[in-house]
Amino acid sequence: MRKKITVVGAGQVGTTVAQLIAFRNLADVVLIDIVEGVPQGKALDLQQSGCLQVFDSLITGTNDYKDTADSDIVVITAGVPRKPGQDRADLLKTNANIVKNVTEEVMKHSKNPILIVVSNPLDAMVYLAKEVSGLPRERVMGMAGVLDSARFRTFVALELNCSMVDVDAMVLGGHGDSMVPMPRYTTVSGISITNLMDRDQIERLVERTRKGGAEIVGLLKNGSAFLAPGASVAKMVEAIVQDKKRILPCTAYLNGEYNWKGIFFGVPVELGFNGINKIIELDLTPEEKEALDTSAKDVKTTIEEVDAFLGKSV
Ligand code: LAC
Repeated sequence: MRKKITVVGAGQVGTTVAQLIAFRNLADVVLIDIVEGVPQGKALDLQQSGCLQVFDSLITGTNDYKDTADSDIVVITAGVPRKPGQDRADLLKTNANIVKNVTEEVMKHSKNPILIVVSNPLDAMVYLAKEVSGLPRERVMGMAGVLDSARFRTFVALELNCSMVDVDAMVLGGHGDSMVPMPRYTTVSGISITNLMDRDQIERLVERTRKGGAEIVGLLKNGSAFLAPGASVAKMVEAIVQDKKRILPCTAYLNGEYNWKGIFFGVPVELGFNGINKIIELDLTPEEKEALDTSAKDVKTTIEEVDAFLGKSV
């Protein structure tokens, strides 16, 4: 039987995710949104592309969580996107209400789904989804590292004028301005970029990666990135559905790894059928460790805001 994947939010990211899951024949898709007609219309439109794009996935559009029953994976994209000049933390209160409600509704109808959270501020929203769902940490994760490392890979390839697919990158930490691109672990066909570029070049690309989301928000003026975010979710979904055991940077709940506990943080994980099989701890230089700790402190602040929102003592 085909897997069932619910995508919550029929906006730009949700629609892109639904499309890529279908195009790759990964699962049937339920697209759900509070706006009446939009998920139904987009689902029907996407379904009608099946004979052209060659897929058999069934696509359902709905406003009723009953239709999401027994989902294997739920991708949560619901929430409002950033406006120019806004940082992801400004969104916290608005999106916390939305993500809490979505998670409660999802859990009424699916017993043991894997949750992939995309809504911003990412690290806080995925923590909220874990707290509200009560799911084990292997089954709740955030999409950020795949996107942030895709941006770093792109900038490296453009700078070196080399193939995009030969570049591999690692970006760790929170999905905010203090995220930590890791040049030592970023390679072109296995060659570290520290051997291919000078410090200033690398620093420029690191900065552009950190501000990668804001650069697109600034250009679009009304909305945030959705094509690369959608492709990043699809890559995670594929690793899970096909039990690929891929090692990807994802936002995972730390329980002592990297010396942090009780926060969600971007780290390399192995992704397979059961979600996060393991978290990989990299050897870090003192400077890398310091940069990660700075990012972890920023994440902890937003997580404390979620605890306050949930009425938990901090
Ligand atoms: C970005 C949003 C999705 O980084 O956080 O573009």
